[in-house]
Amino acid sequence: MSKQKIIIDTDPGQDDAVAILLALASPDEIEVLGITAVAGNVPLALTQRNARMVCELAGRPDIRVFAGCDRPLGRDLVTAEHVHGKSGLDGPVLPDPVMPLQEQHAVDFIIDTVREHASGSVTLCPLGPLTNVAMALEKAPDIAPRIRQIVLMGGAYFEVGNITPSAEFNIYVDPQAARIVFRSGVPLVVMPLDVTHKALVTAARNDAFRAIGSPVGIAVAQMTEFFERFDKEKYGSLGAPLHDPCVTAWLIRPDLFTGRHVNVEIETQSELTMGMTVADWWRVTRRAPNALFMGDVDADGFFDLLTERLARL
Ligand code: BDR
Ligand code: CA
Repeated sequence: MSKQKIIIDTDPGQDDAVAILLALASPDEIEVLGITAVAGNVPLALTQRNARMVCELAGRPDIRVFAGCDRPLGRDLVTAEHVHGKSGLDGPVLPDPVMPLQEQHAVDFIIDTVREHASGSVTLCPLGPLTNVAMALEKAPDIAPRIRQIVLMGGAYFEVGNITPSAEFNIYVDPQAARIVFRSGVPLVVMPLDVTHKALVTAARNDAFRAIGSPVGIAVAQMTEFFERFDKEKYGSLGAPLHDPCVTAWLIRPDLFTGRHVNVEIETQSELTMGMTVADWWRVTRRAPNALFMGDVDADGFFDLLTERLARL
């Protein structure tokens, strides 16, 4: 497989951090062109900072990090400190970042990068609300046919919702942005809660991260320990779901995941079901498929990959 050029759009977030670390640990398969931060789990001032801290943890202060939109397109920002802690990255004690934040706005970086590279060569990997990506598509519609694919974490079908009874957090925070992305015509690969709730950090998997023994392995164990308290209490599950790393894992090992090519529409009107991903999983409509919507993951294979790659950093 040829090396994939990607932009990671993110709101770190412990699971975002692990997704970034996995990408940076996989230079044979993935070239990270830049990281764009968006408001989501915590406000933008923290997500852009956290993104730089993660790059430094990985020993990659050369990665360019850009700040993007500080609020959703048409709604007030909803954050998730109740899951991720006050900083968004609670758990390990990481040093303040030294590497600079880039001056260019994240949306312009996305546009310029897609235009500068060969058509069909740049993949976008959104791990948070879709505000930056939607803004880029709105501002520069010419980039849509040039984007190879958008591989994103968001939505749910059988799992329905985590921030409301009917919506997953990333889509709920900015449903208008999600609607733009899902209607963009760009090939979409979607990692919904249906998959990510199967990627649970059990005690044994957490021990495996810690046993790596490096600053990265220990920090990842501390991150997942921190945010598992919330999910264990809420779902009675064995550990925290590692949502966002499913995106970067798919780029490396797509065979670990299975899904269906179906139509997915975003609810943007009803306050009750705002941000719901209405996935035509059973193909009961004639609406044209617009997304490869994942449904299952080989969780052991996923964690083996993650542990093996994190040990390289
Ligand atoms: C998504 O929301 C955030 O809390 C996580 O980082 C993930 O991207 C899961 O619903
Ligand atoms: Ca995220």
